[in-house]
Amino acid sequence: MPQHFLMCPPTHFTVSYQINPWMNAKVATDADRAVRQWQVLRDTYLDLGHTVDVIDPLPQYPDMVFAANGATVIDGIAYSAKFRHNERAGEAPAYLDWLVAAGFTPVHATETNEGEGDLLHVGGMILAGTGFRTSTAAHHEAQEVFGLPVVSLQLVDPHFYHLDTALTVLREDLIAYYPPAFSTGSQRVLARLFPDAIVATEADAGALGLNAVSDGTHVVHAPAATNLAAQIRERGLEPIAVDTSELLKGGGGAKCCTLILRAADDDEARAAAHVTSRQLAPGGTGNGTDRGPVPGTRTHPAH
Ligand code: ARG
Repeated sequence: MPQHFLMCPPTHFTVSYQINPWMNAKVATDADRAVRQWQVLRDTYLDLGHTVDVIDPLPQYPDMVFAANGATVIDGIAYSAKFRHNERAGEAPAYLDWLVAAGFTPVHATETNEGEGDLLHVGGMILAGTGFRTSTAAHHEAQEVFGLPVVSLQLVDPHFYHLDTALTVLREDLIAYYPPAFSTGSQRVLARLFPDAIVATEADAGALGLNAVSDGTHVVHAPAATNLAAQIRERGLEPIAVDTSELLKGGGGAKCCTLILRAADDDEARAAAHVTSRQLAPGGTGNGTDRGPVPGTRTHPAH
């Protein structure tokens, strides 16, 4: 299944503040190297046949490359982020503006959440992380916004401060995760929901190997996560290693750099188009062409 991604080049990438244990403002960063690694990641997606849209980076937000935190987009609805830390607050409206211009239906969050970093769509539900960034109130808000069951998971290790650093969705019926990143109760929940899940090693999780992107066939992951790659291959998926080591200085990997844009369910989009075109008649042309994009449909040509 071809995917639609939104990414932001790390043109202004640096570590000037510390909001997770991976970040050390004393360690030098190299924005050019970050951009080169990011381009390889983007090109990997394009080679796999996916669509990648790009949002302009803002100089005052060095973490804006981590697009997964920009919003959560499911079924054509863009639920905005509301960042925990002031340093990133301004990224949320920038991402939402882009998504609105692209035809997605915006919902402004009132609760603190860091987008797809903590809200992972899998198998008709949302796995939702809390403990460091996203509040449980946002889990409830997301359930109302998307009408999908939300399963709250408690993160307990600051190195795995976002859910997408501790858990990867590989297919609708398959995840990989690192149990020690979760509370005992949340580990039991995951074991019940996904008894066949891949359990990641400490070494792989410690290299942020779980911050991977799967299209259901291929899995783009950090090269250091060699055990995970083997486990992924055993399950019939193809691992593809892409080096994002410069971005690791900010505490992120491939998934952090990738926001998944999920268009409205086709039937619903068709129904919406039908209703809108009927509403337009007889004043409008009635064929729906003058009503603007159907919320959530792709407005950018595939490239
Ligand atoms: N420096 C960023 C932060 O601490 C990294 C975000 C990584 N994003 C992610 N989806 N895990 O917010």
